[in-house]
Amino acid sequence: MVKIAPSILSANFLNLEADIEMINSSEADWFHIDVMDGRFVPNISFGFPVITAMKKKAKKFFDVHLMIVEPEKYITEFAKAGADLLTVHYEACTHLHRTIQMIKDAGMKAGVALNPHTPVSVLVDVIEQLDLVLIMSVNPGFGGQKFIERTVAKVKATEAMIKEHGGTALIEVDGGVTLDNAHVLVKNGADVLVAGNTVFSSSDPKATISQLKSVK
Ligand code: DX5
Ligand code: ZN
Repeated sequence: MVKIAPSILSANFLNLEADIEMINSSEADWFHIDVMDGRFVPNISFGFPVITAMKKKAKKFFDVHLMIVEPEKYITEFAKAGADLLTVHYEACTHLHRTIQMIKDAGMKAGVALNPHTPVSVLVDVIEQLDLVLIMSVNPGFGGQKFIERTVAKVKATEAMIKEHGGTALIEVDGGVTLDNAHVLVKNGADVLVAGNTVFSSSDPKATISQLKSVK
């Protein structure tokens, strides 16, 4: 069954606790937490104090997506703040193999994200070490953008690569996921769907999470 990871970027920052409780009591599997630095992406989101505070109330897995340059500098701090899985961007890592190792040594699961223009094949030499491949289905930086259709073929290619190398990485799709495109993503190999706008702009976020969760 597909895992659903609501993106906190679209939550109500004036009352984060209410949205955390909503996710806790919903069928969602993970919290998706987007960290942006204003350098890797043209936006700044939030950092350690917010994640640490969230961790006190949240009862589910913390999936932290770093959209920052030099992510290797902050690995220990993200572990301390409560990240269970730390995903770095391929495009932000000169020594990706080392960074993956550092994340694992810090006791977290390791993920790598690919921008829409980055081919899946760049991960071939690290794929066996990954717990997750995050396929960006919009250009990172903002919630509420339109899904890039080419993503479906990338998800399929990622699944084939993981199979070929006997890897165990999950495939996560992030950006513009809706009730309309969820099915084709799952059918082509997506294991985790991130949903920001689709969940938080819904009049009944829990029901929307349930609907996403039941997509086959
Ligand atoms: C975009 C973030 C996404 C975003 C998804 O840079 O990585 O996680 O919050 O939001 P939606 O689902 O609204 O596209
Ligand atoms: Zn994200």
